[in-house]
Amino acid sequence: MNETRRAILEALSDGPVSGPELADSLEVSRAAVWKHVEELRKAGFDVESEPTGYRLEEVSAYSGPAVEFGLEAPFEIEYHDAIGSTNDRARELAGEGVADVVVLADEQTGGRGRLDREWAAPSGGVWASVVTRPAVAPLRAPLFTLAAAVATARAAREAGVDAGIKWPNDVVVPGGGEDSNGPEYHKLAGILTEMEGETDRVEWLVVGIGVNANVDRGSLPDGATSIRDEAGDVDRRRFVQRLLEEFESLRTDLESVVPAWSDLALTLGQRVRVDRPSGEVVGEAVDVTDSGALLVEPDEGSEGSDHVTVAAG
Ligand code: BTN
Repeated sequence: MNETRRAILEALSDGPVSGPELADSLEVSRAAVWKHVEELRKAGFDVESEPTGYRLEEVSAYSGPAVEFGLEAPFEIEYHDAIGSTNDRARELAGEGVADVVVLADEQTGGRGRLDREWAAPSGGVWASVVTRPAVAPLRAPLFTLAAAVATARAAREAGVDAGIKWPNDVVVPGGGEDSNGPEYHKLAGILTEMEGETDRVEWLVVGIGVNANVDRGSLPDGATSIRDEAGDVDRRRFVQRLLEEFESLRTDLESVVPAWSDLALTLGQRVRVDRPSGEVVGEAVDVTDSGALLVEPDEGSEGSDHVTVAAG
């Protein structure tokens, strides 16, 4: 966000401030203050003009400046009303060398899911891709996927949804029923992590997070649910801020990720069916390794009787 606008918002957070006072403290003209206030109003900041000065009433918008304002994590937000895929745009930015940018969109017209599947991303969802350049080996990259799932589940729980995590990266809500694979879940969110790097060093990660937020379940594939259907509409600006703040605290303390994931995991001790590029594994999920891979004890007759580790992806 423009520095002067950020400074105006900070000044208004403490109560009304007059135009001349703002002009003096920011060392700009009164006309410039007025222009910046107009720009802030256009970006969704409800700035009231009162006899004592300007007052920030509320932030109603879902936009880059609105999400950045009050965000307690060091991310810059690039917002789009509509885009093909936020992951595609984030990959472009990663290739240009940027870090700690979040590409955020109201709607995606070409959303991508895991294993080359399509991802429905109508207007009203939270479609976000974080570009990060961690100094870790590729083996540890799955921890960022787990961190994103934990951050999403925590933000969803704050929004009143009974969210948990189903391996590897699905944020789900218990559906109440049961089928041959165990308890039935409705999918609320998914994560698609993409990476560039060498054998011993990650160059960049794009962590794509798709949350069915303020959308109707009817506009989503079978088996999916949304925050709207579970708990009513959420303030997406606050939701994204909470999600990114949680993600920040986990990515800066990678040792905390697996325990946090285990606390929210609905999968440990359950039978799981995991799709892998080399084929499906069916068995009991017994543990998660320090680098964030799931340890599965395959059913007799499938994959022999050894444990199989499945990386989150
Ligand atoms: C899955 O298959 O469960 C992963 C879905 C990931 C969807 C998100 S939405 C934001 C980002 N942009 C994309 O095109 N995909 C991810």
